[in-house]
Formats: sequence, structure tokens, C-alpha cells
Amino acid sequence: MSYDLIVIGGGPAGYLGALRAAGEGLNTLLIEGRRVGGVCLNEGCIPSKTLLHSAKIYDYTRFSDKYGVTAKEVEYDHAKVIKRKNKVVRTLVAGINSQLKAAKVNLVTGYGRIEGRNSQGYVVRVGDDTYTGSRLLIATGSQPIIPPIPGVKEGIEKGIVLTNREILDLEEVPKSLVIVGGGVIGLEMASYYNSAGSQVTVIEMLDHIGGETDREISQILLKNYKAKGIDFKLEARVVSIDGNKVVYKSQGQETVLETDKILMSVGRRPVTEDLGLETIGVEVENGRIKTDETGLTNIPNVYAAGDVNGKSLLAHTAYREAEVCVNNMVGRRDIMRYNAIPSVIYTNPEVASVGETEETAKKKGLDVETVKLSMRYSGRYVAENEGGDGICKLVIDKKYNRLLGVHMIGNPASEIIYGAALMIETQMRIKDIKELVFPHPTVAEIIREGIFQL
Ligand code: NAI
Repeated sequence: MSYDLIVIGGGPAGYLGALRAAGEGLNTLLIEGRRVGGVCLNEGCIPSKTLLHSAKIYDYTRFSDKYGVTAKEVEYDHAKVIKRKNKVVRTLVAGINSQLKAAKVNLVTGYGRIEGRNSQGYVVRVGDDTYTGSRLLIATGSQPIIPPIPGVKEGIEKGIVLTNREILDLEEVPKSLVIVGGGVIGLEMASYYNSAGSQVTVIEMLDHIGGETDREISQILLKNYKAKGIDFKLEARVVSIDGNKVVYKSQGQETVLETDKILMSVGRRPVTEDLGLETIGVEVENGRIKTDETGLTNIPNVYAAGDVNGKSLLAHTAYREAEVCVNNMVGRRDIMRYNAIPSVIYTNPEVASVGETEETAKKKGLDVETVKLSMRYSGRYVAENEGGDGICKLVIDKKYNRLLGVHMIGNPASEIIYGAALMIETQMRIKDIKELVFPHPTVAEIIREGIFQL
């Protein structure tokens, strides 16, 4: 069969790319090895947020006293939570399947492998069948990095060492959980399993958690987490794993921790192996498919979007990258911009940020001013976050008088941050932001408060 476009990989970049392409009238084939929705929908963003929502309800109920509500005999049913999570995932996967069907995207289940070119285009094999596409969109995503630590492989085989996939499907809450890596996945899972009742220890090799997160915000998160009983071993490296024992080294000293389960969350890497990329000469650099600002690889009509290009590793980036690719495929010049992509850590409290931090701005030689204010400047935040100690930071370009970055910790930061992203993306001047009317009372008003501190 011959197609205008073959999409390999049905995660956020792949399925949305296929839908957009079909919308443009391209006869499109989507090849997915497992289930459409990819990691995000099946074993990432959506299932983790479903679990975290149950944990949040549980925490609100257990600690509702401070809001004047007393709840007795509050119980947590993890098995039921997992069951609901599976239902949520099923519903959304079914939704995507029906959208693909309605858009007349052909879906083939199986792993696609490129096998070169013929007169009609690029040839892709799935099992015994071959397909030809005049264009390709490679959207094979990423997979967890499994570090070469002695004992990890055996731990995976025994079901003691888990990745983001298995941790979302545990039938029982482990009594103890060691999380290797205090990045996004580690912190979200620490939040969930701490609420669900595990004794959680996070081992992180850096001296801070949350990766690139604004340092002051990651300190506040750390303080909040410690208060909830999560243990942190910072500047610590796991040396080996032996059954249920984790050996880590910190300041030259080795310590052994016994634990029920171990989560490996030390990062993800693009999936580029066994794809036959070499058969058409697609350039791979440091394990990532190299693309330009339009999503095009070094080969004509071969595009790549999402985690596989290693640029941002976020589902929402993947959506936009796929759209940029499709726009260029149909002759509408479009480019990808990365300066206003929001990022959220769905902990409780939530952390959200967009744009430059003071550190990154200064590294770029920009003349910036930072406004920092307590989230308590927002009446709604005070009303709804008893004892909350969140902050919001605005990074302002002094030369052009515009917003370059917003960083906040406090609920519901995840729902507010897109407003800041909009201001940054559209390069709004401070004087123009001052004229915006925010609904009152909302936590989002914190941005307005911050702007008026200038
Ligand atoms: P990550 O890159 O966010 O964090 C990995 C952490 O592990 C880093 O802090 C690193 O210093 C640490 N580390 C690395 N090797 C270590 C070792 N041997 N011992 C101890 N610590 C070590 O990676 P993570 O959390 O696995 O997430 C993967 C990707 O998934 C991220 O790039 C993220 O963008 C994406 N993701 C995004 C989410 C969101 O947007 N809310 C949620 C979950 C994942």
C-alpha cells in the first residue's frame, strides 16, 4: 500500500501528527507497536495524574481538620485507585482510536522498520507487510534509561526494580520504596507513594532535586516533602543493588538500605534503534534524531517529532512539534520555538515554570530583574491552601521591558502557567500585561501582583 505519509509511533507526536495530516487531506498510515497514546497516555502523564488525584483527595480528607471538616476512618484503596486509572486510560485510548477512525487514518499494530526507498517513496515493514510513504514522520518516543549499576538487571527480572511502567501498576502499596533519581518522575511517584503509605527514600546524585527547576523553588519542595516524611539522600550515588538491598555512596561512605521496591527514574533516552534509520541515511546524534527548526531530518520528506529528537521530552512539546512538521509537509512554513514551553511537576504542591530562570537568563548575558513574592499575595491561595508557603518568581528583561520567565510552587500552578507562557510567547510588554484583567479571586492573580511590584 502506498501513502502520502507514514507515521511511525502513536504517542502524542505520532497520533496528533497523523490526525493533523489527515485533516490536511494526506492519506496517512499510523504504525504503533503497542497502544495509541504512547507512554504519555498509557504509562506516563495520564495514569500518574490519575493516581496523584486520588492521593490528593486522600490527603485533603485526612488533613481536612485545618479547614474545619472532620473526617473519620478515612481509608485508601490502592487497588481501586489502580482500577480507576486503567479505566481512565482505556477511555482516552478509545477516544483517540475513534478520532483516528473518523479522520480515516489507517492504523496498523506492530513495530515498523524502514527498509530503504523505492520509486514511490520510503518503504516501511511491519511484520510480513510493507508499506510505502512519500513522507515519513518518525515519532518513536523515548524509553527509561537503565543505568549499568550491578544488580539492576537482576532486580528488574525479579520485579524489585521498576520503571515508570511497572510503578503505575503495583497491586499493593509497598511498605518501603527507594527512588533512584529525584527528577520529575521520581518526585511525582515519591508524592504518590508517600500519600499512599509507603516509606519513601529518594536517592539523588545532585545536591538538589527537580533538575533545572528554580533552585529556591526546589528547596521549598524539598522542605514540604521532608515534612511529609519523605527521606532524601542528596549527592548520593547508587553503587549496587542486591535483591532488596540498595547500596549507595555519599561523601565517600557506603550505606545499605533495605527496601520492598526500587524505582529507577534517572532519565529517558530517545528510541532510535532497530528502526532502519541507516537504510535511508537519517542522521542520529548522541542517540537523538537530528532535526531542524521545521522538524525535518537531513533526509528530504523525513521528519521527526517528540522525544525521539531529544529536544524537550514533554508531551505538549511533542504535540506542537508534530503540528510544525505537518504544516511544513503541506507547504506551510512553520518553525518550532522552545522559549515558552511550560513545564510542570505534578507534586502536591505543584511546581510550574516557563521561560528563563534568573540563572539561565544571566548565563545568556541578559539584563534581568527578578520579582519574588509569596503566593500569599493571592487571596484565593490563602483561602484554599492552609499553611501553604508557595512562591512565585517573575523574571523580567530590563532592556525590552518584557516577561522572560515565571516560576511558581503552589496549587494550582499547573493550571495557571499557560497564561504566563502566552505572555512570553507573544512577547507582551510589562505595560500591556498591566492592562489585563484577571478574574478575582484566583491564584493566577499572583502574576498580576508580581507585575505591579515592578
Ligand atoms: P529526569 O531527567 O527528570 O531526572 C533524573 C534525575 O536522576 C536527575 O535529577 C539526575 O541527577 C538523577 N540521576 C541520574 N543518574 C543517577 C544515579 N545513578 N543515581 C542517582 N540519581 C541519578 O528524568 P525522569 O524523572 O526519569 O523523567 C524522564 C523524562 O520524562 C523527563 O525528561 C521529563 O521531561 C519527562 N517527564 C515529564 C513529566 C512532567 O512533565 N510532569 C512527568 C514525568 C516525566
